[in-house]
Amino acid sequence: MKKNSPVSRSGRFAGGPARDVAQFTESVSFDRRLWRHDILGSLVHAEMLQKIGLLSSAERNAIVHGLKAIAREIEQGKFHWKATLEDVHMNLEAELTRRVPAGAKLHTARSRNDQVALDLRLWLRDEIVLLLGEITDLQRSLVTLGEKYADVLIPGYTHLQRAQPVYLAHHLLAYVEMLERDCERLWDCHSRVNICPLGSGAIAGSTLPLDRVFVAKLLGFVDASGRPQLTQNSMDAVSDRDFAVEFCAAAALLAVHLSRLAEDLILWASVEFNFIKIADSYTTGSSLMPQKKNPDIAELARGKSGRVIGNLVALLTLLKGLPMTYNRDLQEDKERVFDTADTVHATVRLMAAMLRNTKVNHAACASAASDPALLATDLADYLVKKGMPFRQAHHVVGAVVALAERAGKPLNGLTFAELQSVDKNFGRDALGVFDLKRAMAKRNLTGAPGTREVAKQLARWREQLS
Ligand code: ARG
Repeated sequence: MKKNSPVSRSGRFAGGPARDVAQFTESVSFDRRLWRHDILGSLVHAEMLQKIGLLSSAERNAIVHGLKAIAREIEQGKFHWKATLEDVHMNLEAELTRRVPAGAKLHTARSRNDQVALDLRLWLRDEIVLLLGEITDLQRSLVTLGEKYADVLIPGYTHLQRAQPVYLAHHLLAYVEMLERDCERLWDCHSRVNICPLGSGAIAGSTLPLDRVFVAKLLGFVDASGRPQLTQNSMDAVSDRDFAVEFCAAAALLAVHLSRLAEDLILWASVEFNFIKIADSYTTGSSLMPQKKNPDIAELARGKSGRVIGNLVALLTLLKGLPMTYNRDLQEDKERVFDTADTVHATVRLMAAMLRNTKVNHAACASAASDPALLATDLADYLVKKGMPFRQAHHVVGAVVALAERAGKPLNGLTFAELQSVDKNFGRDALGVFDLKRAMAKRNLTGAPGTREVAKQLARWREQLS
């Protein structure tokens, strides 16, 4: 073998790559973070090679020993990564072989093409499990805030215009529902990540009698009933990055949900709304305006959704014109996947912490929710109960709203006579619909923001998330 030349070039090539070529093609600067999973895959591959008689026990032991020593050095920051060795796979293999002659047998029936697919799947599997825990924690902090301020009412908005009153908890639980769908999508994605590609070789498997089931089982590539999950087409296995796209897509939608939550919090923290106060430690100041307290965490959560969406689009674009099977373009997948995972982990964690450090302003919420216009629809429902068709009731209440506007009065400040002047169906009890407490007691359809229903939903989520 030639010195200073990676194993992939020995034999066929006269020397190493030009310096700028090495720099252009290397991935070890970012894919080194796959090292744990790369070593895990190698340990199991060695175990399997020994089982089928291609490694002696002594060789297997030497490889295991060598890989564990390398792992310890990486952990302690003592390992020397070389860009000339291109990627994490060749760095680890070259160093192992330098220390242990049997290391040269480790690549038997294995290509970096199935190796990198394996590493990314193993890595992503762990990331998804971690992320699911973090999302559940965010859901818990939303439920906790809802429970703490269970009696707080706010206006619900459509078109960002006041619509109808809702419990703050109802608004927060809307996000708990969205996040639950995110968890479901991530779990679904996990089932397709959790399939073992090892044994696919570079493109066409191997002539050697590998035990793929043994490898899959040892690496935990099994379904809920313990059945091993193996890729069924070697060409698909080395070129498939659907699982990465699916993760990026699920994460992009999660990021969009976080962005929407962030936007609500930003609005609520403004002086104009004044519904919440985010703790000082979760806000930042202005370098010029001394009075400012900015919701930067929420703003960054909103802003970072842009890069997560961008990563998904980059990945799809990267894949769309690739001929079968592995092409070096695929090396570009990793930074997009890493960045997506890092960004959503951090955003979910920070949003949960910020919510735990947020107080609700009872008085401002109560004042906004007491706007009688929020109950105009209830007044129409009152007429419907008297037998009026809803379209007509809508028209009548519209006229009542116009009358109140002309008289410069709130909707509930009109007299019985004024209501009667618009429509004779109004009885003396009509103004009773503006009793907010009674109005909230009436909204108890499944999924509605009624007092009993919201308490039920809070209890359901508390139980489900415990
Ligand atoms: N660093 C490569 C990647 O990330 C590993 C596979 C390279 N395979 C190859 N035949 N050049 O995709």
